[in-house]
Amino acid sequence: MSSAVNKNPEERSSQADTTAPVLQVAHVSLRYPENNEYVFRDVSLAVYEREVVALLGESGCGKSSLINLAGGLLASSAGHVAFRGKKIQTTPPEVAVVFQDACLLPWLTVYGNVDFALRLRSLRVPADERKERVRAALREVGLEDAAHRYPAQLSGGMAQRVALARSLARRAELLLLDEPFSSLDAITRGAMQEQLLGIARKYRSSVLIVTHDMDEGLMLADRLILMAKDHGETRLREWNLRAVFGGAGADRRRNAQRNRRSSVFMDLREDIAADLAAGTAARPGDAGE
Ligand SMILES: Nc1ncnc2c1ncn2[C@@H]1O[C@H](COP(=O)(O)OP(=O)(O)OP(=O)(O)O)[C@@H](O)[C@H]1O
Ligand SMILES: [Mg+2]
Repeated sequence: MSSAVNKNPEERSSQADTTAPVLQVAHVSLRYPENNEYVFRDVSLAVYEREVVALLGESGCGKSSLINLAGGLLASSAGHVAFRGKKIQTTPPEVAVVFQDACLLPWLTVYGNVDFALRLRSLRVPADERKERVRAALREVGLEDAAHRYPAQLSGGMAQRVALARSLARRAELLLLDEPFSSLDAITRGAMQEQLLGIARKYRSSVLIVTHDMDEGLMLADRLILMAKDHGETRLREWNLRAVFGGAGADRRRNAQRNRRSSVFMDLREDIAADLAAGTAARPGDAGE
């Protein structure tokens, strides 16, 4: 394996290689066996070293399917997915996926659910380090006091934060997050966004995050990709936000927030909203705004 899984994330090269993508989704098509229609055809995208990429698109356009494909949890009908240049068949240990629904194990406590993610044999995390990582991850998502609770005793937002803690504890090189903040209230959501960016920066992780909230995409991402269906074909359009707001990680988020009333921000927002509306307007029964 080219990159040692247990390599201390702080020791990962601080010199970002901007030429080789961490994740490459190349010309993938997907059709579920039980359906006649393709979910999407010939879709390509890349996530580069230490980049935060937001994937936005109307409900049903295939964002979760794409995340599952990118994480090696689903096989594509055509094309391939590569992690650090190697085609993948299953989820590499350096990749952590947070699903749209939290997918917690009901028989384990909050602590147990996070710990479980680190017990993967291929990760080779020693027991004492595991304990430290679980505690730190629960602290980061503000769930230290709920460590002993079971999933049935959690609110939807708490369950989402456990799912996020599970991926943070992995200190993965690539985080694939499917709407991880959708059940959170606005204040917790903002705090979690900032935590995520701080942690991604600390552990030099790259992030692909699905959101249906345009502002979340604008606040979080270095690059925003909009996925839209156009006459049956899936089309991706992207915006480079790093160039617009400057800075990195949580600083970038603060820059974006400070400038959210600026004309640059408003124009960008309008441009993206128009594209989103064009997609939804194409569907019968939708108002398109
Ligand atoms: N396991 C599955 N089996 C069959 N069809 C599926 C499956 N999962 C998703 N689909 C179909 O694939 C399409 C894309 O679904 P997907 O969940 O990827 O969309 P999405 O963009 O994530 O939507 P949302 O924003 O509502 O989460 C939908 O038409 C859905 O019905
Ligand atoms: Mg989805």
